[in-house]
Amino acid sequence: MDSIKQAVELARAAESAPRNDTGLAGAFGISRQTTSDTQIRDVRLNAAHLQAARIIAYGTSSEHGRYYDMLRTQVLQEMDKKSWQFLAVTSPTAGCGKTVTACNLAISIARLPGRSVLLVDLDLRKPMVANYLGLGATDGVLSVLEGRSTLSSAMLKASIGPASFLVLPGSESSPGSSEWMASQTMANVLQTIQRDFRSCVVIFDLPPMLLGDDVISILPRMDAALLVAGVGSTSVSDIKECQKHLQRTPVVRVVVNKATELAGSYYGYY
Ligand SMILES: Nc1ncnc2c1ncn2[C@@H]1O[C@H](COP(=O)(O)OP(=O)(O)OP(=O)(O)O)[C@@H](O)[C@H]1O
Ligand SMILES: [Mg+2]
Repeated sequence: MDSIKQAVELARAAESAPRNDTGLAGAFGISRQTTSDTQIRDVRLNAAHLQAARIIAYGTSSEHGRYYDMLRTQVLQEMDKKSWQFLAVTSPTAGCGKTVTACNLAISIARLPGRSVLLVDLDLRKPMVANYLGLGATDGVLSVLEGRSTLSSAMLKASIGPASFLVLPGSESSPGSSEWMASQTMANVLQTIQRDFRSCVVIFDLPPMLLGDDVISILPRMDAALLVAGVGSTSVSDIKECQKHLQRTPVVRVVVNKATELAGSYYGYY
């Protein structure tokens, strides 16, 4: 829990700091083809779209991308040590940068030779992975849970440059997200992912912890968590409240996001 203590300190110092949230811009197309033998569709991602959505870890030249590479290395070291496969990305409250972090981390891992990664959008209330990656209309987790799609038909193989990774996107938002998260159907889907994608690090983009019981329901099925705190939007008491729910789930890192003005860098992590 040392990393959480450090985040509490940083959030305390930052509570009065100005925000540096410039928002998201743009919408772009993708090229798409069907791979009939595996049923997993190939999607080539558009670099301009990714950049507008703050997904920048596909290249090695950007300074910001290198922060994600450092985060990736630290996360993988922790996970490899314990043979962990499932990583939950969550935050205390909304808008801290979970989805941006989860997408960048997945792409950064995908650039490593010999590494496989699957990014799953488990924010059933507000799925945004497809939007940020520019996947267009797609089946998603909900259609798998409802038995309308199989895992492989809802999954995509996304590529950018030489890097490629698997994505199980979200599609529409579900009013019953809380019930789905706690359901046996969800447990079965996760077991299938664990079995069929054993060689992958699986990154789950989750909802905020404190805005419902979705995350609390799913945490026992995760091996570890990455907590994203937003400078200016996460308070000390928010982080302490999360700490209570994270007693049994190891926190591999706390990312202090949007920390530009405070720490003199785009992303901070501890
Ligand atoms: N480091 C950053 N600096 C500035 N803006 C950022 C940063 N990271 C993310 N953002 C912006 O903040 C907004 C929220 O980001 P994101 O969707 O990743 O958050 P989230 O925690 O997943 O939100 P939600 O709780 O709604 O799922 C987006 O507009 C995103 O572009
Ligand atoms: Mg999100």
